[in-house]
Amino acid sequence: MSLLLIWACGEGSPAMLSGDPGEGAAIYAEHGCVACHGPEGSGASAPSLIEHVPCHTDEELRMVLRGDRPEMPDQHLDTQQTLDVLAWLRQQFGDFRGEEDPICAEFRQGL
Ligand code: HEC
Repeated sequence: MSLLLIWACGEGSPAMLSGDPGEGAAIYAEHGCVACHGPEGSGASAPSLIEHVPCHTDEELRMVLRGDRPEMPDQHLDTQQTLDVLAWLRQQFGDFRGEEDPICAEFRQGL
């Protein structure tokens, strides 16, 4: 919980590099994400990105993409690829709606 507070109150991680959503879309299609999350991100064997991306902070998404979830195999993305995918996820599925959002509040209890 304290970590979440630091993220919420801090400035977030300053974006030294910026992501290219076009590159991110290509990575999503070519890197195997599509096999588990579906072409539209609506979920297949893996959860729906449409529902879950807006309930994650950027930092959480970065950590998932860098392989901190045992259920999702590490995709071995480098820093630029991670930023690109993050930019695309945000463009496609929306920004973090905040912890007060009722749907996100429930989802985040299970994190
Ligand atoms: C082998 C299947 C598989 C592949 C390939 C895969 N994922 Fe996942 N992904 C999962 C599973 C399973 C979870 C749920 C992990 C959990 O609940 O802890 C997940 C979780 C996520 C989440 C967080 C959603 C949530 O429910 O919290 C995001 C975002 C995500 N994946 C994006 C990607 C992207 C982008 C790629 C490609 C670079 C990718 N995934 C590749 C299986 C996969």
